Amino acid sequence: MFGGIYRGKRVFVTGHTGFKGTWLTRWLELLGAEVHGYALGEVSVPSMFGVVGKTDSLIDGRGDVRDLNHLREAIAAYRPEMVFHLAAQPLVSESYDDPVTTYGTNIMGSVHVLQALRELDSLCAVVMVTSDKAYENVEWAWGYRETDRLGGRDPYSSSKGAAELAISGMIRSFFPKDGPVRVGIGRAGNVLGGGDWARDRIVADAVRAWSNGNAVGIRCPEATRPWQHVLEPLSGYLALGAALCSRPELHGQAFNFGPSSPEDVEVQTLLTDLASAWGWADPTKSYDVVNQMPFHEAGLLKLSCDKARRVLRWDATLDYEQTVKLIAQWYVAFYSGTEAMDGFTAAQIRTFMHHAQARGLRWAHSPMAINRS
Ligand SMILES: NC(=O)c1ccc[n+]([C@@H]2O[C@H](COP(=O)([O-])OP(=O)(O)OC[C@H]3O[C@@H](n4cnc5c(N)ncnc54)[C@H](O)[C@@H]3O)[C@@H](O)[C@H]2O)c1
Repeated sequence: MFGGIYRGKRVFVTGHTGFKGTWLTRWLELLGAEVHGYALGEVSVPSMFGVVGKTDSLIDGRGDVRDLNHLREAIAAYRPEMVFHLAAQPLVSESYDDPVTTYGTNIMGSVHVLQALRELDSLCAVVMVTSDKAYENVEWAWGYRETDRLGGRDPYSSSKGAAELAISGMIRSFFPKDGPVRVGIGRAGNVLGGGDWARDRIVADAVRAWSNGNAVGIRCPEATRPWQHVLEPLSGYLALGAALCSRPELHGQAFNFGPSSPEDVEVQTLLTDLASAWGWADPTKSYDVVNQMPFHEAGLLKLSCDKARRVLRWDATLDYEQTVKLIAQWYVAFYSGTEAMDGFTAAQIRTFMHHAQARGLRWAHSPMAINRS
């Protein structure tokens, strides 16, 4: 997997107590990496980190990415060989409530990570995680490409667009192509998976309501999104990190990571499919359509993943049915209380890797494959 590059590597993950950060940390540990996390506390109750994140091998560092000196000390002491920067305020709704924290965390947090990395003098591959929302959403039907205009209408989206500009400026000013630190950028969105309990995310809202025997309130049943399982973008970040180690020409480049499914699925279809796996006798009763619209919701934003396909030889792994199955099985296992979620989560990661191998994806195969362009 990933050319075996993660075995024995010192990997620094910001945001390791979050939804994606916990999945990434668990996957890195399965790949044989040593992980040093750096984040504030858990993001919800329950949380993915609280359920499966606390492992014996994890260095569970706590700190604020807005505190440059503390972050710099942590990175200098650990001397990472790879960095994944995921720490952020990631919610659109929260960004309306607290734009100052959102901009401070998402923009200056990214600047601080790069500033701290300027002091490294040995090879380090860095993946900065932004979002599909970093693109200026002009509501067209085509997939956005890496060269399209950045922007963002709400505080969260524009904080990610602005973070990208800051990351690009930092790279061009302080990280030369022949230097030891190589930085790539990963853009993805509409991420689903077990262990997400963030507010105003469709599946998280649904399982919260269903676990109390209630239907979930939804606003736009016919809205479509290019949903993807959390392990899809993570496989992209890991493929990018691995490729950066051996391919200096990738330094400074951004990559989109999205689902392979040709069709976008409606919210109501996703919910009825999840509800039937959950055990609703009539899955169409698992949601109620409500009218209130608490904040502006952007229209469809799709990513073109041609660049990742061509340059990284990366592709998504799961089809829609496999995606729904993994998500539903995780939450059903959690709420039934009959499974050890630690082992269950590791088994899902292994299942994902097997699907990737069965699809013949490069990152899931031979050590050399990841190095070829
Ligand atoms: N989940 C999605 O659908 C999605 C979509 C696109 C992009 N992203 C991006 O992926 C990354 C991870 O998202 P997530 O859904 O796992 O978020 P999350 O809210 O579950 O986790 C966020 C993590 O960042 C940490 N954090 C927040 N503020 C911090 C600060 N000031 N200092 C240090 N740590 C801080 C939290 O403690 C947590 O570990 C974010 O950059 C997010 O913008 C997520």
